[in-house]
Amino acid sequence: MSGEKVLIFDTTLRDGEQSPGAAMSIPQKLEIARQLAVLGVDIIEAGFPISSPAQFEATRLVCEQIKGPTIAALARANALDIESAGKALAAAKKKRIHTFIATSPIHMKHKLKKEPAQVLKMAVDAIKCCKNFTDDIEFSPEDACRSEIPFLIEVLAAVIEAGATTLNIPDTVGYVLPYEYGQIIARLKSDVKGIDKCVISTHCHNDLGMAVANSLAGVRNGARQVECTVNGLGERAGNAAMEEVVMAIRTRQDFFGAGGMSTNINTKEIYRTSQLVSQLTGFVIQPNKAIVGANAFAHESGIHVDGILKERTTYEIMTPETIGLGGSRMVLGRHTGRAGFADRCKQLGYKLTKEEIEQAYQRFIEIADKKKEVFDEDVAALVNAEKRVIEQVYVLEYLHVASGTGTLPTASVKMRIKGEMKIAVAYGDGPVDAAYEAIRRAMDLRPKLEEYSIRAITGGTEAMGEATVRIRENDRTFIGRGVSTDIIEASAKAYVDAVNRMVAAQGTDEHPQVKVQL
Ligand code: KIV
Ligand code: ZN
Repeated sequence: MSGEKVLIFDTTLRDGEQSPGAAMSIPQKLEIARQLAVLGVDIIEAGFPISSPAQFEATRLVCEQIKGPTIAALARANALDIESAGKALAAAKKKRIHTFIATSPIHMKHKLKKEPAQVLKMAVDAIKCCKNFTDDIEFSPEDACRSEIPFLIEVLAAVIEAGATTLNIPDTVGYVLPYEYGQIIARLKSDVKGIDKCVISTHCHNDLGMAVANSLAGVRNGARQVECTVNGLGERAGNAAMEEVVMAIRTRQDFFGAGGMSTNINTKEIYRTSQLVSQLTGFVIQPNKAIVGANAFAHESGIHVDGILKERTTYEIMTPETIGLGGSRMVLGRHTGRAGFADRCKQLGYKLTKEEIEQAYQRFIEIADKKKEVFDEDVAALVNAEKRVIEQVYVLEYLHVASGTGTLPTASVKMRIKGEMKIAVAYGDGPVDAAYEAIRRAMDLRPKLEEYSIRAITGGTEAMGEATVRIRENDRTFIGRGVSTDIIEASAKAYVDAVNRMVAAQGTDEHPQVKVQL
């Protein structure tokens, strides 16, 4: 790959985690951070340490365990936040503090209740404070795209003078269109004193579906860092999707000027990273999602298939292999031994401990017994499901469902709850409804079920089904997943998984979006 470098700043673990329902446990964050390092991102934003003890600890452990990328931590423009970020980053070989304060009239007046002069001083003081911990300092004027440009120019020049090295220009509310965003970056590049010494960065939200387009317009006009998340996870409609930004830069070298642009991303790791984040957060990828959706490389129409067979480039601008799809499809079965299974996991890129292999292998045997052929996608789903395991306060020991045409669907369940067995029976509108009602009765809990979906992981009637549910309790959402060849069992497991996640989060403060106002 040739051309100037565009740095990839991944904020899946910070802005991505601010998606309602996407809260991750610390081991899950470490797993994702490890994969982000393999993917080759330049900077990992590991968290917002002041926002909760769990965020602090996650950031600290990422610094301790993940080698390669620079690790960044977020801090508002005040000494307490910055000290917390600095302490959490202490063990990182390459560390960055990312500090921010809003500069738009709306935010300054209504949220901060501060005059522009006060905001300017806080920004400069924040940079000086960051210098006690690192020289790699990123500054974000929050809601930059709705800020008055002369004020933005003044603030940016002042923070550069104080020592900021990366200037991030957030479209916090996903308001601007690509042409406008490009113009803002171009204007800042030409008018901010000292900006040539700094890296200009994009940070675009997707409220109008423009996050990736705006980021690329930023690159075209001089930005050399893009902030993004895997699968576009993030607040509200999300952030710019890493995989789309990277593949657009790679595929459209010609658009970015003489010599083109490149990133340090190993694109062959894109698909695996996307799957891992989807599995661990419970956010299912829509089939028509660019780059990583199940249909992104599927050709249906006869004319297209005919064209592809004659010449691939007639209908394909990228190959599936570039993002790590395709290649050999090895099929496993009930006769595959531990060693063969472990080897396949290794080839699929999983680094598992002996215990993790054993647990996943036990699940594999159960599935291989029910299903003739176990595909790579099945192996990935069951390994990732193992990784999602949290403390099981509620365990589904037994489930029986009776349903059919002209019968009232009924379900009986046996659940182990803190060592005690509970039995419950219920009827419902369908088998899943009946099973959920029986589970609710056994648990004596009624979290609101907001969303339920089921998909087949691979083809065929004996395919593994993967159920995803979203439940809500006291304004917090939790996502659960369940995998089985029996879709009712998968559905029941997903519901119980979501409830266990809810229970695990109770008494913790893993949701920065409700704890700390940005
Ligand atoms: O969207 C935003 O403005 C942010 C800042 C904290 C950079 O996420
Ligand atoms: Zn953001």
